[in-house]
Amino acid sequence: MEYHVPVLLEECIDGLIWDEKGTYVDVTFGGGGHSARILESLKGGVLYGVDQDSDAAKNIDQFKSNRSFKFIAGNFRHLSKYLRMEGVREVHGILGDLGVSSHQFDTADRGFSIRFDGELDMRMDKSEGMSAKDVLNTYAEDKLVHMFSMYGEVKNAKTLAREICRFRIEKKFDTTTDLKESAWKVAPKGYEMKYLAQVFQAIRIEVNDEMGALRDLLQQAEKLLVKGGRLVIISYHSLEDRLVKDYMNAGNFAGIIKKDLYGNDQKPFQLLTRKPVLPSEEEYARNTRSRSAKLRIAVKR
Ligand SMILES: C[S@@+](CC[C@H](N)C(=O)[O-])C[C@H]1O[C@@H](n2cnc3c(N)ncnc32)[C@H](O)[C@@H]1O
Repeated sequence: MEYHVPVLLEECIDGLIWDEKGTYVDVTFGGGGHSARILESLKGGVLYGVDQDSDAAKNIDQFKSNRSFKFIAGNFRHLSKYLRMEGVREVHGILGDLGVSSHQFDTADRGFSIRFDGELDMRMDKSEGMSAKDVLNTYAEDKLVHMFSMYGEVKNAKTLAREICRFRIEKKFDTTTDLKESAWKVAPKGYEMKYLAQVFQAIRIEVNDEMGALRDLLQQAEKLLVKGGRLVIISYHSLEDRLVKDYMNAGNFAGIIKKDLYGNDQKPFQLLTRKPVLPSEEEYARNTRSRSAKLRIAVKR
């Protein structure tokens, strides 16, 4: 099975590469689909590929003989530090294709998918932090409510959190089936699968602190990019997209553009995409996983 089919590939490359001798970073290397096309577009430039999943590191063989490429194993929230260790202080473009890869989704024992029975893990980096079952077995009820309503937009988050606390008195959460059985009981009738997807998404975002990592990445991108440098981000749900849009538009997460004494906008980026770029009908038909993708591109001022 294919590791991952890259989404909005040409659109990302067109937005990202403006100096073929430049230094670029693909902060979500995954199967290396975007990285391969970036490398094809460079003439004398350098690409760093970052991923926190040790499975992604197995895909670097395709670039073994390419001296323009270097893989960095780690979380992109530490991007500045990793680049500093490579002697790099500024870059020409940063690409982030957020969320999980098809490989992570399709591997039962990673616990990301409602389709399989597997260990309830959901960590992209299996050496770090709490797994999904740790979260479900230990979080206080109000913390569960916050997680489900914030990250899954689950309407009956209180009922679900109560059901989870009830379940874990009798039996600890261990597998995706435990979670599915528990959540199914309080799912709206006729919408069970959609509901489970929201519940799984919320836990995955929490386990991997996806919003925190994205905030850290955006703030570091502002400092790392040279004038004219490109920030290219594909997001897959509205919370991520709002952060990206507000930061690209205003340089802060409130989305409010500050002015200097003379009334000039003080913002680090200029958005190149007024509206997000979406996959074409053709891409969607070919790759249904591109469904919720939204691409935004900004240039450093
Ligand atoms: C949607 S996939 C990217 C696929 C890739 N563009 C390709 O063409 O194959 C997202 C990848 O980013 C990685 N990832 C997500 N969040 C990360 C983070 N905070 N730090 C490093 N890697 C991360 C995941 O492990 C996953 O492999």
